[in-house]
Amino acid sequence: MNENKTPAYVIRDVPIYGDAILAPMDGYSDWPFRSLCRGLGSAMSYTEFVKVEKILSKSKQPAKKLYFEEAERPVTFQLYGDNPDTILEAALVVQDWGPDIIDINMGCPAKSISDRGAGVGMMKSPLKIARTFRKLTAKLKVPVTGKIRLGWEKNQNYRLIARIVEECGGSLIALHGRTKEQSYSGNANWDAIAEVKSAVRIPVIGNGDVRRVEDIEKLKRYTGCDAVMIGRAAIANPWIFSGLNREHVPSQMVHETIRDHLERSVKFYGEEDGQRLFRKYAVQYLLLQTLTRETRKRILQKNPTGQFLAMLNEVYASV
Ligand SMILES: Cc1cc2nc3c(=O)[nH]c(=O)nc-3n(C[C@H](O)[C@H](O)[C@H](O)COP(=O)(O)O)c2cc1C
Repeated sequence: MNENKTPAYVIRDVPIYGDAILAPMDGYSDWPFRSLCRGLGSAMSYTEFVKVEKILSKSKQPAKKLYFEEAERPVTFQLYGDNPDTILEAALVVQDWGPDIIDINMGCPAKSISDRGAGVGMMKSPLKIARTFRKLTAKLKVPVTGKIRLGWEKNQNYRLIARIVEECGGSLIALHGRTKEQSYSGNANWDAIAEVKSAVRIPVIGNGDVRRVEDIEKLKRYTGCDAVMIGRAAIANPWIFSGLNREHVPSQMVHETIRDHLERSVKFYGEEDGQRLFRKYAVQYLLLQTLTRETRKRILQKNPTGQFLAMLNEVYASV
């Protein structure tokens, strides 16, 4: 389908046709949501992060989190861990599940993860990052990429880390322009994304504070980055991947997306969990600020699927 088009950029030998990508988000970018966003125009599918020890423990959770369908390719599996050998061992296992790319999370600020040297905790140890990327790129067939932050408040070593990733065979850097301490608050530093872009030759994805369609081009122009990742704004407006700001999404489209997402969720998780896990998106899709407390409560309540959809349609017709 894309053969005659020019890719926006190439991750080693994987062409990417598009410059806006749904960011990996634990608890949000599960298969129903990421496949939905891919259908709406997100340029590739990026899974939530998966703990490498879980993969090696034979738990069923990783296979669920890393599920994909062919139409979603290119697919990136994101892993996190704190030990290069364990990361490699797990990456070799999941490579057989067929991803196009394997990505290492070096940005998660959660204490339970970063304090033990995984997520952004990896950025405290450039040597460990070098070892991880050397091992992975030597042994894996698929390209290996990394998603980082600025670093820690007193050690914003994003430029060094980006160069290490490149030197050690990594094929792409995604940079969220915030420190560990900032977590998700304050403004993202787009100047840092521009610095990284000029420091490496591999593609760079800029991330942080892309809220509206026009921000995609703004971030690209400001930093020279190859593509942008959109996280929180996409939860309320997945139509951003179709080039639409929320106020311009036709009601028919909202209606269809709600039905489609709920169907995917129920197909993937079963009736009860599927509906429960969909509710947090439903309140966002329906323009949260226009809902009364009572309506929000109705949406968040348990309902049989048929009635749930009918109720959503009714709520939507009234806002
Ligand atoms: C609820 C939530 C879960 C997240 N989980 C992940 C994750 O699993 N892997 C990852 O690399 N980043 C994760 N992130 C960070 C996002 O990918 C992204 O870097 C961040 O939200 C900044 O982008 P934004 O300003 O567009 O939201 C998560 C963010 C949120 C809000």
